[in-house]
Amino acid sequence: MPPPQGPPRIELPGVGHVLAVASGKGGVGKSTVAANLALALAGQGAKVGLMDADIYGPSVPIMMGVPCPIDQNVTPLPLEKFGLKLMSIGFVVPPEKAVIWRGPMVDRALRQFLDGLQWAPLDYLVLDLPPGTGDAQLTLSQHTRLTGAIIVTTPQDVSLVDARKGVEMFHEVRVPVLGIVENMSYFVGDDGKRYEIFRHGGGKKLATAVGVPFLGDLPIDPRVAECGDQGEPIVHRYPDSPVAQAYFKLASTVVTELAKRPNEQELPDVVM
Ligand SMILES: Nc1ncnc2c1ncn2[C@@H]1O[C@H](COP(=O)(O)OP(=O)(O)OP(=O)(O)O)[C@@H](O)[C@H]1O
Ligand SMILES: [Mg+2]
Repeated sequence: MPPPQGPPRIELPGVGHVLAVASGKGGVGKSTVAANLALALAGQGAKVGLMDADIYGPSVPIMMGVPCPIDQNVTPLPLEKFGLKLMSIGFVVPPEKAVIWRGPMVDRALRQFLDGLQWAPLDYLVLDLPPGTGDAQLTLSQHTRLTGAIIVTTPQDVSLVDARKGVEMFHEVRVPVLGIVENMSYFVGDDGKRYEIFRHGGGKKLATAVGVPFLGDLPIDPRVAECGDQGEPIVHRYPDSPVAQAYFKLASTVVTELAKRPNEQELPDVVM
């Protein structure tokens, strides 16, 4: 029996790599990684977009310092800030409205973000996914031309267990996993030394265990949270900080990994 026909896959012509930043667990730093990685890629001269795919808990408006709601007659979407093209549900819908949306409305909003906005020309479109392995992940995996997923974890076991689930979900829906990033991995003291406060190295072990590349680790630094709250990500605000430097290195690693694989993957249709 032929598989049931869903809506057509969104191809995003004129957009290069579509990178989904995801994790199994909440609060591990996906949004922070998505925003700072987008800025680090743009710092290499690339044209980059950042799409907030978290409809129930959007982070891009606050992290990027965009006062909401915006007036679309004055500011067309995706709006431009810090050299990035940005879109978030928070720009257009008050938070208390979107949180009560049911699955199909979330699907429709995500499709409209991708299909209905002028993203091209872009080298990279970075998607900031909500936590877990729910509707948004499936919609985006099945109906978008995703180049690959970047899984964020922290060094703690609970996060690693969920990160593994995230990797498995993407494998199941035939989306390549570009690799694993370990966030809040170590601390750099004023003496410039590296201190491993949690058990460091779990991300790398997990990457080896599940057979995907380890993309790098990112230090913990209170300024990351401050910058996020104040609407200017650390890569933009403190480009010389150890955290920003780690992001520039991560961006280079991502570019290297992407160069190893063809952009257009033959993704078989998967019926869920
Ligand atoms: N390397 C870091 N050092 C210090 N604080 C960090 C770091 N990375 C993230 N944070 C902070 O941790 C908190 C959670 O980060 P963030 O919102 O990016 O996580 P998330 O995985 O997107 O969460 P959610 O699952 O709710 O979407 C934020 O306050 C953020 O500023
Ligand atoms: Mg988030």
